Amino acid sequence: GAPVQQDISKIEVGQMVITEWRGQPVWIVRRSQAQLDALPSLNSRLRDPDSKNEDQQPKFAQNTERSLKKEWLVMVGVCTHLGCSPKFHGEIKPEPFDAEWKGGFFCPCHKSRFDMAGRVFDGVPAPTNLKVPPYRFADDKTLIIG
Ligand code: FES
Repeated sequence: GAPVQQDISKIEVGQMVITEWRGQPVWIVRRSQAQLDALPSLNSRLRDPDSKNEDQQPKFAQNTERSLKKEWLVMVGVCTHLGCSPKFHGEIKPEPFDAEWKGGFFCPCHKSRFDMAGRVFDGVPAPTNLKVPPYRFADDKTLIIG
């Protein structure tokens, strides 16, 4: 499929926009500083905090933030368990979840939770972190996916 171009100049801090690439939803989230600050504190609860087990993703995603620019999260919005659509929970303390999870994405099908970098929390039942697609920034306002 052809690369997809997305204007990101109007996305607010904390907001998620959904586009599509190769027939799959791609989430674009402009993460807040609070959301970024919460990421390292979760590492001990994650199956794969540095995404070392992910082969089908760019090398720049093998770290805590999993992104080219820290504030921008770009991710394929498909659960790595059985392919459901996880829901966005941008709050740091999303109710009614336990306070140890600092928000991110919750899959209603079998209750996998992912953090604000798409890393699977407590390692169940999703086997891997959410996928990061290939992407780049053409300029400060333009994201190219694919
Ligand atoms: Fe998401 Fe099973 S499909 S937890």
